[in-house]
Amino acid sequence: MDPRPYGARPQPEKVWSDVDAYFQSKLLAPDAALENALAASAQGGLPAIAVTPLQGKFLQLLARSAAARRILEIGTLGGYSTIWLAHALPSGGKLITLEISDAHADVARKNLAAAGVADRVDVLVAPAADSLAKMIREGASPFDFIFIDADKASSTAYFRASLALSRAGTMIVVDNVVREGAVADDATRDASALGIRELADYLATEARVSATAVQTVGDKGYDGFILAVVNP
Ligand code: SAH
Ligand code: DHB
Ligand code: MG
Repeated sequence: MDPRPYGARPQPEKVWSDVDAYFQSKLLAPDAALENALAASAQGGLPAIAVTPLQGKFLQLLARSAAARRILEIGTLGGYSTIWLAHALPSGGKLITLEISDAHADVARKNLAAAGVADRVDVLVAPAADSLAKMIREGASPFDFIFIDADKASSTAYFRASLALSRAGTMIVVDNVVREGAVADDATRDASALGIRELADYLATEARVSATAVQTVGDKGYDGFILAVVNP
């Protein structure tokens, strides 16, 4: 994680926030459950690092266009991205989300229940590496869509485990891969940036997936996603 407290990081450019507000007003319907999830997360003392509303819908549309019936999320926080993704599921679909913090998982479970998606979502509380190893060991059915958004230093380990829980065509999305450009600084000592650089080195040699990166600006500043699809 970035060692700076979130408020001490560079603020987003005003125009980025203006454009987020503009498209949010046009493209997103007001959703009380999502807004309440953010309010309850703040109330519960969770850091304000959930995806933005437009990013949440971006993830939801990706999962929908993949017709995902089984979704895996690594890094739950208060369940905000989880709710966006759960709404992409058809009836009978399932989302498993991995979280290390009991306190975060408690807030998330309440938010998921209030959003009416608790029946479709399992929050597994443990270090993600342990939950992933257990699912692999137990031969869990492959996931159709995977969102990696936990401790960035472990990104390569999470990606490798995700691949073991995938099938041809599974989409794997990794959040926070740009971090204000730190990823491209070959002298960076930031553990998160180094974790993403290790992931990029790995992806450069991993023939089983095809990947790209999308840089983003908005309310959360300058950051981005890696998108990867598992090859046939
Ligand atoms: N996906 C959320 C944000 C997740 S923030 C959203 O956009 O709404 C990252 C989360 O990963 C935090 O809740 C943190 O507690 C969790 N985390 C950090 N290290 C972890 C680990 N080793 N295993 C599982 N979760 C971890
Ligand atoms: C951090 C983590 C996130 O998942 C995110 O989207 C933004 C910031 C962080 O650890 O600082
Ligand atoms: Mg994130």
